Amino acid sequence: MLISAVYYRYWEISISPDFVLFSLVSALWIMLPAYLPNSAAAVLGGGRPIDGGRKYRDGKRIFGDGKTWRGLVLGIGAGIFIGSVQIGVRDVFGLLVLPELTFPVVVILAVGALLGDLVKSFFKRRIGKERGAEWLIADQYDFVVGAFVLLLILEYGWVMATVTPLMVVWIIIMTPLLHRVVNIIGYLAGVKDVPW
Ligand code: CTP
Ligand code: MG
Repeated sequence: MLISAVYYRYWEISISPDFVLFSLVSALWIMLPAYLPNSAAAVLGGGRPIDGGRKYRDGKRIFGDGKTWRGLVLGIGAGIFIGSVQIGVRDVFGLLVLPELTFPVVVILAVGALLGDLVKSFFKRRIGKERGAEWLIADQYDFVVGAFVLLLILEYGWVMATVTPLMVVWIIIMTPLLHRVVNIIGYLAGVKDVPW
């Protein structure tokens, strides 16, 4: 009874328009070091594929030509770079209302994002989808799942102290929308072959 009253009270306070908007900004803020690596890999990637052209025992490529060392390394670098800038900006401008990012968290977001993308491609090849073919849900959420799995393993305390239920809702809503918009821009800019 008491617990449900406290819980109800929490949502009553949280669902003010200000809080909803603030949660959106907070969600985008913590996810930026995970979002950027994908776009950076698409722009900067290429060259030798991570699987070296090798095939899995099913005769299909392990990851495919869409996963390259350069994309992985420069993508992770871009995520760590933007996260470090965010840490500095928050400190220098005293934007302490924004969720706190730490360097380890930034590294985990960037690495987790592209590992999630890589694991997705492994399973995408296993079900017979070619490099670049669309795989709904998986293509959109791979890097968020990768980042959060790694965060929950390595930075559980940070997640519990920083990520609210409403931020999770925003991440679920905004991720496919941003993914779509960025990929259409990438397609128009000639960086991506397909608009997804
Ligand atoms: N990319 C890369 N290295 C990575 C990830 C991405 O070089 N580790 C580049 C590739 O040029 C890739 C592009 O970013 O084509 C877009 O990434 P993504 O959509 O994840 O790859 P797809 O080509 O769609 O391949 P898959 O079907 O395996 O997802
Ligand atoms: Mg793709």
